[in-house]
Amino acid sequence: MSKVTVVGAGFYGSTTAQRLAEYDVFETVVLTDIVEGKPEGLALDMNQSRPIEGFETTVVGVTTGTDGSGYEAIEGSDVVVITAGFPRKPGMLRMDLLEKNAGIVRPVSESVARYAPDAVIIVVTNPLDEMTALAQLASGLPKNRVLGQAGMLDTARFSNFVATELGVPVGSVRTLTLGSHGETMVPVPSACTVDGRPLAELLPAEKVDELVTRTRNGGAEIVALLKTGSAYYAPSAAAARMAKAVADDAGAVMPVCAWVDGEFGIEGVYLGVEAEIGRDGVRRVVQTPLTEAETAALHEAAQAVRAKQADVAGM
Ligand code: APR
Repeated sequence: MSKVTVVGAGFYGSTTAQRLAEYDVFETVVLTDIVEGKPEGLALDMNQSRPIEGFETTVVGVTTGTDGSGYEAIEGSDVVVITAGFPRKPGMLRMDLLEKNAGIVRPVSESVARYAPDAVIIVVTNPLDEMTALAQLASGLPKNRVLGQAGMLDTARFSNFVATELGVPVGSVRTLTLGSHGETMVPVPSACTVDGRPLAELLPAEKVDELVTRTRNGGAEIVALLKTGSAYYAPSAAAARMAKAVADDAGAVMPVCAWVDGEFGIEGVYLGVEAEIGRDGVRRVVQTPLTEAETAALHEAAQAVRAKQADVAGM
């Protein structure tokens, strides 16, 4: 693995590029944006941190045009992370970004397919499940090679809240969220443990519900505080880990937005599930054991995102 591209050099894209460079597992990180000079300037700045942080990966900044010019630079990328698009403003739902961001993600995905047809695409632009479906349609890449980042982030938020509530190390906490990256997110308390003990033994049900609600609104809570943008430190950590999992090709199991077709009795939809990640993207969707209520919630989420994903086909 030698080359990873991050499209969009905003807060999410630039922090993702920096994390990827600091892993020091790729030869090159390409960072692109349509704002002239922005990716070049950020790349120069990141490269100047190499002697301090001690990594050899080179960051290359490239200004691209909305007509697809400049995309030659991404040729041969093994992974492409798409972050281009508008973030939410306070009071907005992710779904409010649908049309505007579809107008960005469609041409970006077409250009990616033209110059990096063998890449794995990781989408992070919101609304996540819909933009992932659109990226697959527009790129024409096999469904296993197009996935979205949401579950890693939602799960991390949930784990952080549990660790803080109990005053335990985050490393001892395991949580899980599936479903959509939005209203129909499905936290899976039955899979949550602290040092291997079920979460239900450590916190009362009302407290777990409270943390679940805070997790579901985790992005909006930060948008309301920032007022001018959305979260990017935890999101970029999640996206960068997914890109690394592709590079490592070790079959790491992660909650991601993947094409589900038959698993859990759900047909043909991009949905948040656990999946084994490797060089070809999603090796296999993992059928996490779920309670009846969790399964029902997952089906409900699938239905909600399926309707919206059908809409993006015409965008
Ligand atoms: N190609 C490349 N970059 C683009 C394009 C395009 N066609 N259109 C817009 N961009 C760039 C913008 O110029 C900007 O630098 O995308 C960047 C977006 O950056 P921010 O506004 O800082 O937004 P960010 O916080 O990075 O979020 C990006 O991720 O979490 C989601 O909801 C969020 O959809 C949003 C995306």
